[in-house]
Amino acid sequence: MVTQDLFAAGASPLELERIAQLRRLLHEHAHRYYVLDEPTIPDAEYDRMFQELQSLEAQHPELITPDSPTQRVGGRALEHFASVRHAVPMLSIRTETDTQSSGAENFDARVRRELGLDASAPAVEYVAEPKFDGLAMSLRYEHGVLVQAATRGDGEVGEDVTQNIRTIGQIPLRLPAQVPPVLEVRGEVYMRRDDFQRLNEQQRDKGLKTFVNTRNAAAGAVRQLDPAIAAQRPLSFFAYGLGEITPAESGGPAFETHYAMLQALKSWGFPVSALVGIAQGAAELVAYYEAIGRQRDGLGFDIDGVVYKVNSLALQRRMGFVTREPRWAVAHKFPAQEQFTTVVGIEVQVGRTGKLTPVAKLAPVFVGGVTVTNATLHNEDEARRKDVRVGDTVIVRRAGDVIPEVVAVVAEKRQPGAIEFTMPRICPVCGSAAVREEGEADYRCTGGLFCSAQRKQAILHFAQRRAVEVEGLGEKLVDQLVDGDVIRTLPDLYRLGLTALASLDRMADKSAQNIVQALEKSKQTTLPRFLFGLGIRHVGEATAKELARHFGGLDAIMNASEEQLLQVNDIGPIVAQSVRTFFDQAHNREVVEQLRACGVTWEEGAPALATPKPLTGKTFVLTGTLPTLSRDEAKELIEAAGGKVAGSVSKKTDYVVAGTEAGSKLEKAQSLGVAILDESGLQTLLATFTG
Ligand code: IVH
Repeated sequence: MVTQDLFAAGASPLELERIAQLRRLLHEHAHRYYVLDEPTIPDAEYDRMFQELQSLEAQHPELITPDSPTQRVGGRALEHFASVRHAVPMLSIRTETDTQSSGAENFDARVRRELGLDASAPAVEYVAEPKFDGLAMSLRYEHGVLVQAATRGDGEVGEDVTQNIRTIGQIPLRLPAQVPPVLEVRGEVYMRRDDFQRLNEQQRDKGLKTFVNTRNAAAGAVRQLDPAIAAQRPLSFFAYGLGEITPAESGGPAFETHYAMLQALKSWGFPVSALVGIAQGAAELVAYYEAIGRQRDGLGFDIDGVVYKVNSLALQRRMGFVTREPRWAVAHKFPAQEQFTTVVGIEVQVGRTGKLTPVAKLAPVFVGGVTVTNATLHNEDEARRKDVRVGDTVIVRRAGDVIPEVVAVVAEKRQPGAIEFTMPRICPVCGSAAVREEGEADYRCTGGLFCSAQRKQAILHFAQRRAVEVEGLGEKLVDQLVDGDVIRTLPDLYRLGLTALASLDRMADKSAQNIVQALEKSKQTTLPRFLFGLGIRHVGEATAKELARHFGGLDAIMNASEEQLLQVNDIGPIVAQSVRTFFDQAHNREVVEQLRACGVTWEEGAPALATPKPLTGKTFVLTGTLPTLSRDEAKELIEAAGGKVAGSVSKKTDYVVAGTEAGSKLEKAQSLGVAILDESGLQTLLATFTG
């Protein structure tokens, strides 16, 4: 019989040593990179060592061990997952859905009662941890080598997902020498929010289905039968407990507390959340719950609550279990950020610039701390992609300050005959044609200020705090004024008399007086506020300030040519054209003149000395797909800094900005010795010059 050792004789002692050394180094640097987030060698050096090991292993395949760093990716697609019986069952936790502080207080009271502690006994010590929103995983190590990864399943029997779990960089394949011979580490596999966003963008680009949330994406990746696909799904891991472990009698560790056990896991190379803390008694549990609740939206990953565990393992043993739940732990939930509701209608709203936005009208639902009745569907493509129809049951999500969103339709609940949404081809407010321009995602009403929706939005925009600020002029009042044909244009605002205002429905004399005063006050403004208030497309507050600073006065801006506008900091051709087009229209100039005639004033200054643009005279060529910027965005940034973007590479090209799948242009640039940048190189270049 041929043994491994005989085969191993094929490798020289030097090679054997190098293989061992490379594996040790690669394990160490993977831990620094994935777990500690503190790499100490460049990626290229890691890749070089990895390739060296791969080639040594290719020469001596008999030396490949399952814990070799090269074994993270690979393996064949499976037909199905094998079943794994857990040596120690994987428990679940009792859930406290009371999202008040009483949730923590009730748990502490229960623990004290079960331990027979009276009011005079000291506070019980707990470990408080985030409740990670992913899926539970049991990692089995024998003699320090990862031999099996299994899902929870029904708690007794799970699925063997070792191939996929190996691809997770944060999970050690091999542990330091001092670990017990049998060690099962339990924790949560999850997907970070940034990884989730990126994955969904890629899925969308490839025309594949997107994932509803990080938990579904993580579960999908873990249960992916093809490990090559799983390897492309970025997963992370937090350890929070143990399964089977070599008992103390046989030389295993004798931890006294849950916290000490977590510290040991950390020292062995497992990621343990930095948010884990110790809490004495109910008051500190409540404080923890509130503190983590405040941090929730800013974390890089989703959590759906916190978990409290009695810290002393002796007390845990004393308390034991009820059915499948330990008496010594509880999950205290946060308010849900996702809920089901039904779509009662899809409305199309018209914005200030005529943009048509489909909005799902929802049966009111309490989610993420507020009652939600509307969720934007953004535009036609997005509405189609989600295929939201009236009558559908949908999942609505609201996280933090983010606007509520329909994440998905529950397909099984669709009513027969539900009709697909189509964007109207006429403006639902004024009946003008609605058009979608080439390359644009949005339909726009072509009615301009003929469209009352656009008029209303234009007035609200002008009157807002960041523009000229007319205090008290809100949506309801503007609706009344425009719908009742009391005002048609911005200057009409300043012609409103007390009588006209006071005669409006539900308008008290006092309020009418306040509005008149507020209008009077708004007349004294600044040039940037006035400019911003005009609502010129692409002119936000920052651009308005730059324009005012550069030209000093309004007339100079109104008469500036596109070339002159391009001299302004941060202004590229799109903005320059938009400003020019706005002031080329007689009715817009008329509005400005009438506002001035009504007494709207501001101080004007001298034009600033033009500062030369940093990239003036430089020619760029864009090729391939950049990771975050679209072609148009990159072009706009370059042009705003004074550079030019050309279509083909020549000796005159100063820089080629190359993304993925860059083709012949990149080759040409290389052969001509033209400087090549990636997206971050471009950003650095722009930042160094523009400061
Ligand atoms: S401890 C003895 N700690 O919540 C209790 N579970 O039903 C064993 N979970 O599916 C679990 N974060 O995947 C524990 N810090 C944490 C957790 C956590 C998330 C999940 C776990 C399990 C479910 C509990």
